Amino acid sequence: MSHDAVPDPLLEKALRTHTDYGQEQLEEHELAGDPFTQFTAWLAEAAEHKVYEPNAMVIGTIDPDGRPSSRTVLLRGVDERGFAFYTDYTSRKGRALIANPGISAVFPWYPLHRQVLIYGEAHKVDEADSNDYFSNRPRGAQIAAWSSDQSHPIDGRDALEQKVRDTEQHFAEAETVPRPERWGGFRIVPDRVEFWQGRTSRLHDRLVFERRGSGWAVTRLQP
Ligand SMILES: Cc1cc2nc3c(=O)[nH]c(=O)nc-3n(C[C@H](O)[C@H](O)[C@H](O)COP(=O)(O)O)c2cc1C
Repeated sequence: MSHDAVPDPLLEKALRTHTDYGQEQLEEHELAGDPFTQFTAWLAEAAEHKVYEPNAMVIGTIDPDGRPSSRTVLLRGVDERGFAFYTDYTSRKGRALIANPGISAVFPWYPLHRQVLIYGEAHKVDEADSNDYFSNRPRGAQIAAWSSDQSHPIDGRDALEQKVRDTEQHFAEAETVPRPERWGGFRIVPDRVEFWQGRTSRLHDRLVFERRGSGWAVTRLQP
């Protein structure tokens, strides 16, 4: 990709775009009784409308030195226990979450004028669940998990590709590739989930579920 200067009109367009959101609404009486049911309904609609990577979410964590950091991961499971994703426990996010389980997540479903904001704590999923998920990944992804110490520096692309070749050789005779101990799932257990529906003239709907004992309270926020 070349890095020529961006023509001014394009930059202007990108910075000044102002979309007036459509006629969709989210009223209290339409809301499911819990955030997981509401979330799965919206996720299905995002998939139905062919939102690109509808299960992609941007998670925010706090590094051990107190700095925030964020990145995209893919949701791989959701039920009444929470929202599960898989990663390297020794990555930046892995180390952050082990030191401080506080986490936020955003599903940015822009084409639907929607976002879901999740706040809670992330804890490792059971090893059996991580094994199960890992065993169903393509072999190339399994080899990559062994070959990449995620978020740690490396001396160039060649060194990474050499690690992949070494791992392939190591498992050449193995029918299945086991899960590396440092790789597995986190489940976000939410205490707050906001459903945001864009509406015309910036008068958006924002309905927030907050955990109250074994149930959920719903509050509307001003846009
Ligand atoms: C669409 C998309 C999906 C991604 N999914 C994952 C994922 O499920 N797990 C993961 O560890 N990294 C995933 N990544 C890479 C992360 O964004 C990130 O680069 C990596 O996890 C290292 O983050 P960290 O250094 O903050 O730990 C994804 C990136 C993109 C763009």
